Amino acid sequence: MIAGDPRIWSDPLEFKPERFLTTHKNVDVRGQNFELLPFGSGRRACPGISFALQIVQLALASFLHMYDISIPSDAKVYMTETVGLTNNKATPLEVLIKPRLHLPSFMD
Ligand code: HEM
Repeated sequence: MIAGDPRIWSDPLEFKPERFLTTHKNVDVRGQNFELLPFGSGRRACPGISFALQIVQLALASFLHMYDISIPSDAKVYMTETVGLTNNKATPLEVLIKPRLHLPSFMD
């Protein structure tokens, strides 16, 4: 399975994003480390890598800065995926999003 080799990834099916801050913090996502190829590799690799890495960070940081994000008290987060070409959640995520900044009036 792509990116699911237990010889490379401990608990490959577990959602453990913290592994990229610890055991795998030096993995290169630009196509040089074949155990993780989110943008592909070689001549047909994604030409938008640099743009994408900056935009993902900017968009995520802006979102986290502007909103308080929580789940309803009775809700649970399930990480099970469906089978398919892309990763979809088997159980939809219920999220409450609340603005945490006072916007200037022109943005009302
Ligand atoms: C997080 C965001 C992105 C991811 C994960 C991603 C991932 C990928 C992957 C896996 C491929 C196929 C590589 C291959 O065939 O080996 C690809 C191709 C491509 N991507 Fe991205 N991409 C992202 C964002 C972007 C952006 C922002 C642009 C343009 C502004 C872009 C433009 C392209 C183009 C034009 C191709 C086709 C390249 C070719 O077939 O020669 N991508 N991308």
